[in-house]
Amino acid sequence: MSKAFYHQPVLLEACLEALEIKVDGIYVDCTLGGGGHSRAILARLGPEGRLFGIDQDEDALLRANKPLEDGTPALCSDSRFELIDANFSQMQRFLQWKGVQGVHGILADLGVSSHHLDEVDRGFAFRFVEAPLDMRMDRRSGPSAGEWLATATEEELSSALYRYGEIRQSKRLARDLVMARLEAPLETAGQLREITLRSAGQEKPSRYLARVFQAIRIHLNREMESLQELLEQSGTMLISGGRLAVLSYHSLEDRLVKNYINHGNFEGKDHHDLYGNPLRPMDPVKGRWKQADANENSENPRARSAKLRVGIRNQVSMEALYQAAQQQDFWKVPVRLSHRPSDSSAKKHGVHR
Ligand SMILES: C[S@@+](CC[C@H](N)C(=O)[O-])C[C@H]1O[C@@H](n2cnc3c(N)ncnc32)[C@H](O)[C@@H]1O
Repeated sequence: MSKAFYHQPVLLEACLEALEIKVDGIYVDCTLGGGGHSRAILARLGPEGRLFGIDQDEDALLRANKPLEDGTPALCSDSRFELIDANFSQMQRFLQWKGVQGVHGILADLGVSSHHLDEVDRGFAFRFVEAPLDMRMDRRSGPSAGEWLATATEEELSSALYRYGEIRQSKRLARDLVMARLEAPLETAGQLREITLRSAGQEKPSRYLARVFQAIRIHLNREMESLQELLEQSGTMLISGGRLAVLSYHSLEDRLVKNYINHGNFEGKDHHDLYGNPLRPMDPVKGRWKQADANENSENPRARSAKLRVGIRNQVSMEALYQAAQQQDFWKVPVRLSHRPSDSSAKKHGVHR
């Protein structure tokens, strides 16, 4: 970690408003990053409130353990805060392991941080030609981008480029990559950049490069799979009335979030119980989604593509939804009137109301 600036939180006030923070509530920031959202949540919590901060990136974890450059104490020095070193696809397992059965709010600010894009040795940005091709958020696991590009088949390359970057020339680019690696191993962002630009055609080079680098990053970090797991676990972990707020930055992420919040599944299909009530674990907050205003966009270019969607946990039980998914017979599924555990059981499990 070389720079003082780490990340400027996006749509901060809107996220806090969306979570409707209760002073003694339990909250989860699934994407801790530089801790901007976490610090603002803690500022609204009272002494009984709790916040879990999850990140899979060692730099973010390190930062949470250090005071800020201006002397503000480390996040981890706040007894209401607990750091979880994990992929957020493991949220439920870690919370339950810590004795938490239900939470009041979950925030996810998806993708990479400014820190990732500004650090040369992380390899996320195509502007640093000498950067090693890494692109992992968690550098302790999985292949780096360079290792993957060296071993993936032409079909795997083409499929990831098409699915996650919507690259129409994905087959051509995959072939170019395979041909190039026969000549010399692909080790730097500059090499990848040069090969990529051969198939850019009429497309603006920076836009094309951004989509190719994004596709490789999403594939390597299993971003879509982790997001699906997180969304499903949110339905289980939020207490009735609890809130999920998700900031997404591209259409693939947003589609999953929108479909899950609005329909309770990733296909975007409507299902109803016998009485015509929607069978989904959350109800979308009215107003659909929020974007940053012109002021924020000019101060923080990253905010330009952000979309905030919010869901409120309703009383449809997850069991009913799982049964429905298994039986694929949504018309016969009963809906429980209350999913909320009794107050005594909630206290026992550390749920504050
Ligand atoms: C956009 S940044 C969050 C910035 C943060 N809200 C702030 O105010 O500084 C996203 C962070 O989430 C982490 N992240 C992304 N996907 C993750 C996942 N599946 N599991 C855990 N952490 C993840 C990244 O490592 C990164 O630090």
